[in-house]
Amino acid sequence: MEKKIAVIGGTGIEIEGEALFIDTPYGSVMSRLTKLGDEEVLFIPRHGEGHIPPHRVNYRALLWAAKAWGALRVISTNTVGTMSWHQVGSFVVPADFVEFTKSRPSTFFEEEAVHVDLTNPYCPEVRRSLIEGANDAGALVATGIYVCTEGPHLESPATIGMLRSFGDVVGMTGYPEVVLARELELCYASICIVTNPAAGMRRDAMSAAEITGEMAKSARLLRDIVGAAISMMPEERRCQCDRALTEARL
Ligand code: HPA
Repeated sequence: MEKKIAVIGGTGIEIEGEALFIDTPYGSVMSRLTKLGDEEVLFIPRHGEGHIPPHRVNYRALLWAAKAWGALRVISTNTVGTMSWHQVGSFVVPADFVEFTKSRPSTFFEEEAVHVDLTNPYCPEVRRSLIEGANDAGALVATGIYVCTEGPHLESPATIGMLRSFGDVVGMTGYPEVVLARELELCYASICIVTNPAAGMRRDAMSAAEITGEMAKSARLLRDIVGAAISMMPEERRCQCDRALTEARL
C-alpha cells in the first residue's frame, strides 16, 4: 500500500526530481516526482520556479494537482515569524489557524453551498507524524495557532500587537491551503520553520533577505523532518479527513 503523499514546499526548500506538469481547471502546476522517507512523493514548489508572491499563489491549482496525482495526504512547509518567543530555527506544527487574508479564492465550491467542518482543521495523523518526525530528526518543535496575513509586506508592530492575541506564529501562505485540502478530502498538515521574531519583537527589524537566509540554514533539517514524518506515517488513514464532504452540503 502506498502512502500517496504530496509535499507543498515553501520558500527555501528545493527538492530535485523528474519534472511533472499537472493540468488542473485552474492552470498547469509544475511538480517533481521524488523519493522521501522511502516513498515516492509528489513535490510541489508553492512559489513555482520563480517566486510567485504569497498573495498571488494559485492555491486551488496546487491542491487540485495533488489530488489529481492521487495524493491522499499533503504535507505543507511554511516559514513564519514568531509572536510567542520561539527560538529562530525551531519548528511549529499548527493545531489551528486564524486568517486575515483579503484577495484569495478560498473554495472549490463557487456555485454550491458547501460548508466543510474545521473543528480539527489539520489532519491529526499527519500532524502527529510531523511532530514525531521532528523529534526523530532532533529538531525543537512546538504546536500552536497559525495566523495568516495577506502580505506581501511584513506586518507593522501594531498589527503584531493585535495578532498576538489570536495566535502564536504569523505567515502568509498557510491559508487557504488548509481549507482547500479539506474540501478535497485530503489529509493536510503543516510544518512551519520559525525564521524571525515578528515585527516589533526585537530592537532591529529583520529584512526579507535575512528571513530567507534563516530558512536556508534550516532547509536540510526541514527535509530530514519531512522524510522522517513520511516514514512514520501509518499506511492506513484512520482520521475523518476522507469524509469531509459527507455532511457539508446544505
Ligand atoms: N510575517 C509574515 N510572514 C512571515 C514572517 C513574518 O514575520 N516570517 C516569515 N514569514
